[in-house]
Amino acid sequence: MPAKISLVKLRLDAFSRLDLLGSVTPLEKLNRLSDYVGRQIYIKRDDVTPLAMGGNKLRKLEFLAAAALEEGADTLITAGAIQSNHVRQTAAVAAKLGMKCVALLENPIGTTQANYLTNGNRLLLDLFNVEVVMCEALHDPMAQLTDEAEKLEAQGFRPYIVPVGGSNALGALGYVQCALEIAEQSASNFVDFSAVVVASGSAGTHAGLAVALHHLMPATQLIGVTVSRTAEQQRPKVEAIARDVAKRLQFDEALPPIHLWDEYFGPRYGEPSEEGLAAIKLLAAKEAMLLDPVYTGKAMAGLLDGIERGRFPGTGPILFIHTGGAPALFAYHPQI
Ligand SMILES: Cc1ncc(COP(=O)(O)O)c(C=O)c1O
Repeated sequence: MPAKISLVKLRLDAFSRLDLLGSVTPLEKLNRLSDYVGRQIYIKRDDVTPLAMGGNKLRKLEFLAAAALEEGADTLITAGAIQSNHVRQTAAVAAKLGMKCVALLENPIGTTQANYLTNGNRLLLDLFNVEVVMCEALHDPMAQLTDEAEKLEAQGFRPYIVPVGGSNALGALGYVQCALEIAEQSASNFVDFSAVVVASGSAGTHAGLAVALHHLMPATQLIGVTVSRTAEQQRPKVEAIARDVAKRLQFDEALPPIHLWDEYFGPRYGEPSEEGLAAIKLLAAKEAMLLDPVYTGKAMAGLLDGIERGRFPGTGPILFIHTGGAPALFAYHPQI
């Protein structure tokens, strides 16, 4: 395995990247939860990446923001839900780099709840001086972002479009880095994971992990719990990014198998589920671990149900990728 690790590191080093993380994120065992469910559960703490309350997007932004600076951009423009963690982390990176940030936002659940509209991630956007543009719906985000970027150019700015969720192959390289960390941490802790579970949304996190884990830890099954789509809708999104990631890393091996569980995203994207809320409460009570109602609560609901129904291969430990999102807890009060 060390030779494989060296190769992936070498290939990753060919890409421009800002050091925004500083160090690897912790990998911890959840002892009380493991005892409770009767299976060893570990967690990769990407919720504590160091900028602006953490989360998975910082890894993607190390590559995307580097590309923006190389192109001479002075503005990051991106899109998402009012409570997007991705938009909050992009805004934080822009602030840190002294760039302007423009965010195209939608209200995907059509709520009028004051906390959803003003608290949580949305409150932080104001602290980062984001220029917010509201839209009816993000029906074609790249086209909508391109329109906004043209308006900014006409005003003399040099915008760089960060795709929704930071999810293209360049951003997904951030999760190749995460897979490297997992391979090294599992080896040094002598744990052999049967499975890794991650929330699968705009798909970059899942795709980056899929390509690199398949290379580094082929016996471990990666499961993406969808948060917005059926498996049939999600698969081509994950595969397209995975194909592009593999090409950038010059991997000529077959594409990794993409495992998707789509029973846990209901009622719909951005709307909490009973099982997701129960998972949030369980993790808080057993481990003082804060999940969120849109992504990690639903992914954890999948993990817990998967154990109960015997859906995981083998009997070894399971690793949950904690991708962040806790700032949204405040936005979903009083539902939570
Ligand atoms: C907390 C959290 N978890 C998981 C995800 C999903 O990651 P991806 O969009 O790369 O699939 C997101 C995306 O916004 C997120 O904010």
